[in-house]
Amino acid sequence: MKFGVLTGGGDCPGLNPAIRAVVRRAAKFGHETVGFLDGWKGVRDDARRTLSVADVADLLGKGGTILGSSRTNPFAKEADAAKVLETLARNHVDALVAIGGDDTLSAARDLHRRGGHVVGVPKTMDNDVSGTDWTFGFHSATAVAVDALERLRDTAGSHHRAIVLEVMGRHAGWVALATGLAGGADVTLLPEEPYDENELLKHVRAAVAARGYALIVTSEGIDLGARRGSAGAKDEFGHELLGERDVGAELARRIQHATGVEARSAQIGHIQRGGPPVLFDRILATRLGACAVDLAIAGRFGEVAVLRGPVVTGIPLAEAVGTSKTVTPDWLDLMHTFDA
Ligand code: F6P
Repeated sequence: MKFGVLTGGGDCPGLNPAIRAVVRRAAKFGHETVGFLDGWKGVRDDARRTLSVADVADLLGKGGTILGSSRTNPFAKEADAAKVLETLARNHVDALVAIGGDDTLSAARDLHRRGGHVVGVPKTMDNDVSGTDWTFGFHSATAVAVDALERLRDTAGSHHRAIVLEVMGRHAGWVALATGLAGGADVTLLPEEPYDENELLKHVRAAVAARGYALIVTSEGIDLGARRGSAGAKDEFGHELLGERDVGAELARRIQHATGVEARSAQIGHIQRGGPPVLFDRILATRLGACAVDLAIAGRFGEVAVLRGPVVTGIPLAEAVGTSKTVTPDWLDLMHTFDA
């Protein structure tokens, strides 16, 4: 067989180990792999590179993606959809492995509906793909955010300040939740809960009264009301570019104004997306990449490799896309146990 592989959407640690796993698993059964560049754009435009076993050596600890990525939606225009099918036919690709989040996997589902031989691998630092217990990228990104919170704790304590750490997370607050839990935030704000300024100020005041400073973690996706719109910029899938809303800075302004406690904010942004994958992400990416190849060899096109408990298995792409996996009430209950 000839395999194709692409990485689409926002990058995250684990993509390179996943590419390596696809190439190595395919090679184990005597199959070759071609890599498409910059996500679906590379399939649309027939931009590619060969991927030998030697090409994917030394990738386990490397962040980013050697294939590049983009947020191109090849099924937004019929002409582009036709080009995707033409590229796959021209290059005699028997099975395409699409590694990505909800948008990339939705495009894979659309390709499958048009007869394309495609399987998916879920990734995203947001951990919001349905149908899988975890996505790779999440643990690596959150470890960076926890480290940032610990550094902010030192300086917040020295200056008796309230400091807001803004982390990524569009519709799902998994990164903020885990950062707050693992780093010991006094209050954590997620898109899953309505913003309540009185509650926020109550916890900030309690933390400052107890030990002279306060740490607040917020997801970039929280809704602070009409005033905090994005600058209007959107990606090809129609998503707002949330980082431009600066909710962390706005929260710091509101906290200082209401409490008189000096406040600062830090937005770590894309720092969360770079760097070497942690152990969990290396192993998960390796297992899912290999599983995707096995699904394709078994002719199980239209499926995506997922983690269910201890097991890696395939489920239909249609079951995994379209709905974000958001933070559940049991997690919220645990999180609020540690509010100041
Ligand atoms: O989808 C992952 C994500 O990291 C979101 O949390 C964030 O809103 C977005 O990507 C930022 O993407 P971009 O790379 O387009 O700035």
